[in-house]
Amino acid sequence: MNTASKQRTLGAFLRAGKRFDASAARRPLVVFENIFKSFRERSSVFRGLNLQIERGEFVFVTGNSGAGKSTLLRLIYADQAADAGRVLFMGREVGNLTADSIPFLRRNIGIVFQDFRLVPNWTVVENLTPPLEVLSVPRRMIRTRINEVLDRVGLAGRGQELASTLSGGEQQRVAIARAIVGEPALILADEPTGNLDPQLAVDILGLFEDINETGVTVLFATHDRSLLDIRPRRVIVLDEGQALDVPGGLGVSSASSGYVG
Ligand SMILES: Nc1ncnc2c1ncn2[C@@H]1O[C@H](COP(=O)(O)OP(=O)(O)O)[C@@H](O)[C@H]1O
Ligand SMILES: [Mg+2]
Repeated sequence: MNTASKQRTLGAFLRAGKRFDASAARRPLVVFENIFKSFRERSSVFRGLNLQIERGEFVFVTGNSGAGKSTLLRLIYADQAADAGRVLFMGREVGNLTADSIPFLRRNIGIVFQDFRLVPNWTVVENLTPPLEVLSVPRRMIRTRINEVLDRVGLAGRGQELASTLSGGEQQRVAIARAIVGEPALILADEPTGNLDPQLAVDILGLFEDINETGVTVLFATHDRSLLDIRPRRVIVLDEGQALDVPGGLGVSSASSGYVG
């Protein structure tokens, strides 16, 4: 079997049984319906927030520190629960999932954090293996899939290096590889460039865009205005407990034009 057909087989294997149901493909990937959330009395993060994310979109989520960017993402992967309203993922109400079915939800979601969250004394390959083991991917396919993903994030041949010996930008590439290795429908990125210098931040943004080009939906939370300005993309601004949708992006500065096209 050549490499290409192996990958097709793996792709089919990864997708099999992971979907909630076939009709989910026709629905929006994520829906927030009239969401209310507060952690303290008299101070709410969301007050009637509505939002819809279609399959294949790349969407920025922004807002000041404390506006609720991380909370918005957490509601999708059931790390927080709404006080009222519904969050739907692939047509299923996340708040109604039982503890047993939350791992199945998370198999469809890859998450990237600001602080990478790799196991530092594991190799790159060891950091990428658990998500595939959880999916019961056969051993011989695990190595093939990891090599393919390392190639995709620009780290071909680096699999045996310890995570702790990599630079920050490289560690974030490993974290992105870990997020996509199981072929999730959705990638959630919570300030993924927050620990990186500006040029690396743009490189990492580009990597998420490449991933999006392959059909994966990306929700990219950042308060870094310079990143938002260089791409004319849909932006969701969290403010006063609501989501303000800016379909064409915030970028109006002349600096943005050089990047477009
Ligand atoms: N687990 C939590 N317990 C208590 N308060 C929280 C918790 N998570 C978030 N908050 C509060 O909710 C608000 C929104 O936080 P967060 O979603 O982290 O905002 P952002 O990511 O936009 O900075 C903040 O006021 C924060 O202090
Ligand atoms: Mg945050």
